[in-house]
Amino acid sequence: MWDDLKAHGARLKDRRIADTLDARRAEAFSAEALGLRFDYAKTTLDEGARAAIFALFDAAGVAERREAMFSGERINETEGRAVLHTALRNLDGGPVMVDGVDVMPGVLRTLGRMEAFARDVREGRFTGAGGPITDVVNIGIGGSDLGPAMATLALAPWHDGPRCHFVSNVDPADIAGVLRACDPATTLVIVASKTFTTIETMTNARTAKAWMAERVAEPAAQFAALSSALEKTGAFGIDEARVFGFEDWVGGRYSMWGPIGLSLMIAVGPEAFRAVLRGGQAMDLHFRAAPWQENLPALLAGVGIWHNQVCGHPTRAVLPYDNRLARLPAYLQQLEMESNGKGVSMDGADLPVPSGPVVWGEPGTNGQHAFYQLIHQGTQVVPCEFLVAARGAEEDLHHQHRLLVANCLAQSEALMRGRTLEEAREALRGKFEGAELERQARHRVFPGNRPSVTLAYPQLDPETLGKIVALYEHRVFVEGTVLGINSYDQWGVELGKELATALQPVVEGAAPAEGKDGSTAGLVGFLRREGL
Ligand code: F6P
Repeated sequence: MWDDLKAHGARLKDRRIADTLDARRAEAFSAEALGLRFDYAKTTLDEGARAAIFALFDAAGVAERREAMFSGERINETEGRAVLHTALRNLDGGPVMVDGVDVMPGVLRTLGRMEAFARDVREGRFTGAGGPITDVVNIGIGGSDLGPAMATLALAPWHDGPRCHFVSNVDPADIAGVLRACDPATTLVIVASKTFTTIETMTNARTAKAWMAERVAEPAAQFAALSSALEKTGAFGIDEARVFGFEDWVGGRYSMWGPIGLSLMIAVGPEAFRAVLRGGQAMDLHFRAAPWQENLPALLAGVGIWHNQVCGHPTRAVLPYDNRLARLPAYLQQLEMESNGKGVSMDGADLPVPSGPVVWGEPGTNGQHAFYQLIHQGTQVVPCEFLVAARGAEEDLHHQHRLLVANCLAQSEALMRGRTLEEAREALRGKFEGAELERQARHRVFPGNRPSVTLAYPQLDPETLGKIVALYEHRVFVEGTVLGINSYDQWGVELGKELATALQPVVEGAAPAEGKDGSTAGLVGFLRREGL
């Protein structure tokens, strides 16, 4: 199957995208669903290659594994867990069974508890020692930070609750900066950690507790926990009434739909939060039912596979022309790279093709004035994924929004068209001549034929955000299934954690650096001399 697809890759290697891009191709290589339009016409894919990708989906059993996921089978095989973040947004769906037990009553009960607590905080019934809560500090890292942080920024126009801050890094600069801006007497600290053992989060949580204890008699009373580890939250002193747990079938990077979304819910209110869930659920239903050719997550995955595993482009840029999606690239870095950055297939064999690509990006138009030079003219091809809304939240500044959209569309057009030597010469004639004209013109040539896709949507509202996030989640699922890997474990991050723990006494000077490699010992020596 891979060979077949790679043969299509070789056949289409030199295809000029612009040559075939009429309205017919645009329609044939775009899909509209749930109010979103996904345009992948500016790629080298043709009907034959697309059919080969769909054949690969079928050969890999994507549809069967998709049903296994939605129906609670333990598809996270290395950890023996089901993968059911979709149950968290299955608001009006039927039962979801895990080992013969319907998990939906528990999901809805926890959602109800979160809503009651969020309302109490927002409406001033839950107070700090100094009165109603003015600031919420979410302490968490990875999936316990990126989802709510990304979504709270994305939904800023809906943010009518207390201010929300996100602390993730163990670097004291992170928490110190946030706490300086807060009054301990009116701050709620949410410790978000599925395991309640993550060293960065627990260190920051203790720092926050000590900070609060200086001004507040009962600091733990202003703490809530989002965790499955009840014993540990209890040992930290947090009352069970303010602990919101979730099951092991919710992976960290898929968890913003449940308790990990509490800070978002407090910020935008339970109604808007439910709208995010509705958007996610709508994408789930679409993903389960739509044929591949109309199926947005499958198409996005197909393009991803085409660019990375077939064409060999090692990275992809996510470029939201939507400033409030500024944290989406970081969110997707975890979602995609922690999920599909695996070198081993499910059966333990080495992957026969590259694992998922490096994902990176920044909002447009800022990126245009930073790294787009490389995208347009650098020697490596970077497939781009643009996101753009028809309308912004600032209705009175719609003329400015139109300029944003023009920039987004212009970039994908420019990437595709490029500029020939003749066009560059023409633009410079009169200014330079002879050999100098030739030299100057060459600097202004862009190869073009750089692929991109565009996801267009009416407006970044809560429901649309839910659709977009679920779209990317299912893309990861499809790509991971085709690669034959487990997208739901993350063993690769463990070694660094173990070594950090082992190095702590060394950097503190309580243990010698001997036995460490020369480079590590040398760096410890330098840093200790300089005051570590
Ligand atoms: O970095 C590994 C990881 O386990 C992520 O998958 C997860 O999102 C993050 O750490 C935080 O974990 P926890 O919620 O248990 O603190």
